Amino acid sequence: MKNIGLIGCGHIAETYFRSQKYFNNINFIACSDINEEIAKKTAKQYKIKYLSEDQIFNEDSIDVILNLTTPKAHFEISKKALEANKHVYCEKPMSIKFNEANELLNLANHKNLYIGNAPDTFLGGGGQLSREIIDDKIIGEVLTGSFIFAFPGVQDFHPNAESWFQEGGGPAIDMGPYFFTTLVNLLGPAKNVRARGKKFSHQRTYKAGPKKDNKFDVTIPTTYMLDLEFQNGAIIQGFISFDVLNHQHNHIELYGTKGSMVVPDPNMFGGPVLISRELGSEWEEISVDKKPLGKINIVNPSGRSNEAPKQANYRGIGLAEMIDSIENNRLHICNGQLALHVLEIIESTMISSSLKKEVKITTKCEKPPTFKDDRIKILLKN
Ligand SMILES: NC(=O)c1ccc[n+]([C@@H]2O[C@H](COP(=O)([O-])OP(=O)(O)OC[C@H]3O[C@@H](n4cnc5c(N)ncnc54)[C@H](O)[C@@H]3O)[C@@H](O)[C@H]2O)c1
Repeated sequence: MKNIGLIGCGHIAETYFRSQKYFNNINFIACSDINEEIAKKTAKQYKIKYLSEDQIFNEDSIDVILNLTTPKAHFEISKKALEANKHVYCEKPMSIKFNEANELLNLANHKNLYIGNAPDTFLGGGGQLSREIIDDKIIGEVLTGSFIFAFPGVQDFHPNAESWFQEGGGPAIDMGPYFFTTLVNLLGPAKNVRARGKKFSHQRTYKAGPKKDNKFDVTIPTTYMLDLEFQNGAIIQGFISFDVLNHQHNHIELYGTKGSMVVPDPNMFGGPVLISRELGSEWEEISVDKKPLGKINIVNPSGRSNEAPKQANYRGIGLAEMIDSIENNRLHICNGQLALHVLEIIESTMISSSLKKEVKITTKCEKPPTFKDDRIKILLKN
């Protein structure tokens, strides 16, 4: 068990507080936020200490800082935490700039500290079953495939939607981490990317919150189409967009030499996984409901495309696994090298689209180890 100080008491904080119910080594003792009022309210609600930013970095009893601030603040907060000799676990992406994330990884390595990063969804039942199917060569060698994340954007429900449509936002930074991390988990590291990006309008309208019916500027592409080649030779076509009302594609499909597979939503932990073993055959549906991180635990009838109404959400397992790795002196699965590689894919997608040419991925990372049920069970509360 390690003591955790949480910075950034926004929407996702509640999910991480809930992770204390599932995992036995997560112990929040303090929280902080640039917005003092929100931090004090959160501290009261979860019966932990409120600390100012300076205090939280200087609190000796805190071992790990959980960075749940907005993506633009990730670098600054993670850097201060490492400088204060704390381990860090950060929400996605590691930073909005590759060079900054690289600096964080170097700093952590230099100080012998752990730096971990979301997403941890690929550790779920769906992600791990997909990995078993690939490793057991049930669909043979994966040659090609496709992925999609597409919805109309957050302006319909988010009061501060503009940050998704300006520098530091966009669909590749926002949703790329889930898809690229899942693909690296299944196929190994990426080699190069070719992308096209498009901004279809200069302004959008807030449809919720105090600024409802006002307009905000769109300054970056809101749709990317890309192809990503992996070191193992597979080529995957991707589509990430804030310009689609509805669609009926699967999140990820992989096509191998002996069959095809539908990988479940990489933003969540559940299943099912679908496989087809022969030309024209029925799709075989394999449930993950019995897997420890595959059981449905959330009912959310949002009705948005790409979001199942019933879901398995065990966010926080990446943090729990990192704490266990610190205690057992081993490399954690959601590690900085993996997150940096994924961020390079994201940044290269955006660079490729603006340069209109292929961009090489320069960082290397290991294919993550599989996350076996016996290790998961050690971290679960009964
Ligand atoms: N909301 C989701 O469903 C969701 C899901 C998965 C991941 N995430 C990720 O979680 C992170 C947070 O998302 P959110 O939706 O909770 O955002 P949010 O805007 O609701 O909350 C972010 C909080 O961070 C605080 N903050 C910003 N800059 C700060 C700074 N420099 N120092 C201290 N506090 C600061 C803000 O005041 C705010 O309270 C993001 O990286 C996002 O990508 C969010």
